[in-house]
Amino acid sequence: MSMYQKLIDKEATMSVVGLGYVGLPIALAFAKHIRVIGFDINAERVEMMRNQIDPSEELEAKDFEGCDITFSADPEDLKRAQFHIVAVPTPINPSNHPDLKPLLGATRTVAGALKPGDYVVYESTVYPGCTEDDCVPVLEEVSGLSFNKDFKVGYSPERINPGDKVNTVETIVKVVSGSDESSSEDIAKTYELVVKAGTHRASSIKVAEASKIIENTQRDVNIALINELSIIFDRIGINTYEVLEAAGTKWNFLKFSPGLVGGHCIGIDPYYLTWKSNKLGYNARVINSGRHVNDAMGAHVGKQVVKKMLEQDKNPLESRILVMGLTFKEDVADIRNTKVVDVIRELQSYSIAVDVIDPFANPSEVGHEYGFDLTEKPAEGAYDAVILAVSHEPYRGMTETDFEALMKDDKGILADLKGLLRGQIKRLNYWSL
Ligand SMILES: NC(=O)c1ccc[n+]([C@@H]2O[C@H](COP(=O)([O-])OP(=O)(O)OC[C@H]3O[C@@H](n4cnc5c(N)ncnc54)[C@H](O)[C@@H]3O)[C@@H](O)[C@H]2O)c1
Repeated sequence: MSMYQKLIDKEATMSVVGLGYVGLPIALAFAKHIRVIGFDINAERVEMMRNQIDPSEELEAKDFEGCDITFSADPEDLKRAQFHIVAVPTPINPSNHPDLKPLLGATRTVAGALKPGDYVVYESTVYPGCTEDDCVPVLEEVSGLSFNKDFKVGYSPERINPGDKVNTVETIVKVVSGSDESSSEDIAKTYELVVKAGTHRASSIKVAEASKIIENTQRDVNIALINELSIIFDRIGINTYEVLEAAGTKWNFLKFSPGLVGGHCIGIDPYYLTWKSNKLGYNARVINSGRHVNDAMGAHVGKQVVKKMLEQDKNPLESRILVMGLTFKEDVADIRNTKVVDVIRELQSYSIAVDVIDPFANPSEVGHEYGFDLTEKPAEGAYDAVILAVSHEPYRGMTETDFEALMKDDKGILADLKGLLRGQIKRLNYWSL
């Protein structure tokens, strides 16, 4: 009997290892059809999920209803599962090299529970070759079993977009791959249980790994080009959004906007590819340049705001700035690798007093991660400049009058990183990327 058949007959159980932004939605989606064990090393998060609370704040209690799922922080429980999905973080270290500690740690945990006939499918974003060259040897060594003889492996990248309620696990075509033909088929059919949009069967695990990493690399490089253009246009004295609007009337002009590239996907994944490329003796110049430009944007924004203040005879040493929005993108609570912090650090390097507000970020997480406190309520009439850094929903309806109420005087600067208020600001000094 195939693994797929065993899963739907509930003769086999699925485990999902790592229940974050990626793991929990996929675990719950499967648990509506088959039996699932949701495993995470963080016992506190597991306890929350037992109480139908998503620690990542993406899902609601109703999403846990009707699910055949057991949450556990005990690796012993994984022995009851035969089809393991691994969805743990794949961060970079301070030198921008892949940090495989969580991935290999989770692999060791799964290997300790591995039995003949089991499947292990990775969803974490990695460089091509990581599954077979880095993870499989650990699975073999710890379990004492043989790859493709005793157990099969697959790779199926996750393509969800945090905060996006339209493009979800169910509606995005899922790329799947297996270590041989039968596992590829079994893995595809298993995912088709939950992915209504269907699957794309990649010809190999490496092809599937590469497909994911280039989605985010392509985006990163394209945004970097627009960011570079915005630096050039700033010097020329024209607005980037106005240029993009004009160029965008051509059918094949790609629609990207300037901005800060943060978070733990687009700003991180390209480093996995450049690292692999370097190992193979090729310096990926275009990708590295894109990373360089995007990583420097926070400091660029900070400097531009200081210049605008000097133009208005404002002394940075006596200035106070309000930064609106800290998370890495709009309408999410995730503050990891947010580049708004680079803007704040740049301003602080000029001894400017900076207040930061965010309706979604968790204040204690901000304190823990970045060492400063969020301001609860902005002070009216107190600021020399306001930086609208993240276009959170509560900020989207704000008018010039709202911003004027925050400014110290009529020389206030409004830096609108997303160009939201372009054409609407008549009295304040307006700047956008
Ligand atoms: N968040 C996204 O939108 C997104 C989209 C596509 C791909 N990805 C990729 O998916 C992977 C997971 O990302 P995420 O955003 O879900 O991460 P996350 O940080 O939200 O969650 C990871 C979970 O894994 C747990 N964990 C860490 N080490 C573990 C271990 N050894 N054993 C068991 N559990 C462990 C953590 O406690 C946490 O609950 C990453 O490779 C990421 O690049 C993420």
